[in-house]
Amino acid sequence: MSPAAPAPADAAAALATHLGPLAQDFALEWIASCASSNTELLNRDLSADERIAVLVADEQTAGRGRRGRQWQSWPAGSLTFSLRWRFPAGSTAPVGLSLVVGLALAQGLKTLGVDGLQLKWPNDVLVHGNKIAGILIELVSGRGRTTAAVIGIGLNLRLPADAHIPDQPGVTDLERELDAPLPERPMLLAALLLEVQRLLTLYAQAGFPVLRPAWERYNAFADLPVQISGETGIVTGVCAGVDDEGALLLRNEQGLQRLLSGDVSLRALAGAAR
Ligand code: BTN
Repeated sequence: MSPAAPAPADAAAALATHLGPLAQDFALEWIASCASSNTELLNRDLSADERIAVLVADEQTAGRGRRGRQWQSWPAGSLTFSLRWRFPAGSTAPVGLSLVVGLALAQGLKTLGVDGLQLKWPNDVLVHGNKIAGILIELVSGRGRTTAAVIGIGLNLRLPADAHIPDQPGVTDLERELDAPLPERPMLLAALLLEVQRLLTLYAQAGFPVLRPAWERYNAFADLPVQISGETGIVTGVCAGVDDEGALLLRNEQGLQRLLSGDVSLRALAGAAR
């Protein structure tokens, strides 16, 4: 870890200070190491706490990504954290949740001065086509219904020069994308958490339709030819955005298709990436 990195307890205190009065809406915990902050939160019974649980890990020894992949991170070069968010009473498991979290990260990073932000459905955060952050959402069930989501976020801050990241063709980090020095992690995390909380609140009140236009503005593949590889094979077409539930819309010879699965990957065809 870099010598400048604060001890976890100091980082947690600094985070609370940066959150200001809104710190009371979060149950904050900052730890030195764990296998995966998502796994850690999934294994805890937090049902009695109304607050958004936040677990930040300086180091993850077995970080997990989407579609069963590993998520690589470096103690001084990454920000890895998970949130546990309770669904509003009576709501069903929302498809749009992962899009909302991606949008919040993009907007949060924009406030910090990052340009060229894009979203790749369902929720990768890109800068000029290169991935800067990934999101892994896992649902928590109880008494026959989905009660909460564990939302894991990995943000590249300063990738090692020799970093080799399998399955990720283009990656970037915050240091490269900022014209200013990297902010301290507590300050950076506070900016992201405030935006995540703001959008989750909007989403709980009004659903994805109110956030859909904002998501569309960041859509990395809007109106471009794409291929989507899912468990049943590859589908091609033109990306026609997302619908009010957050499903991806694909226009091809069959008409307009809706893709809901969280296991779908999106790739621009050769020459179409931007
Ligand atoms: C992806 O793009 O594949 C999603 C990556 C999600 C990584 C984060 S890091 C914090 C949390 N803990 C994990 O094990 N995974 C998520």
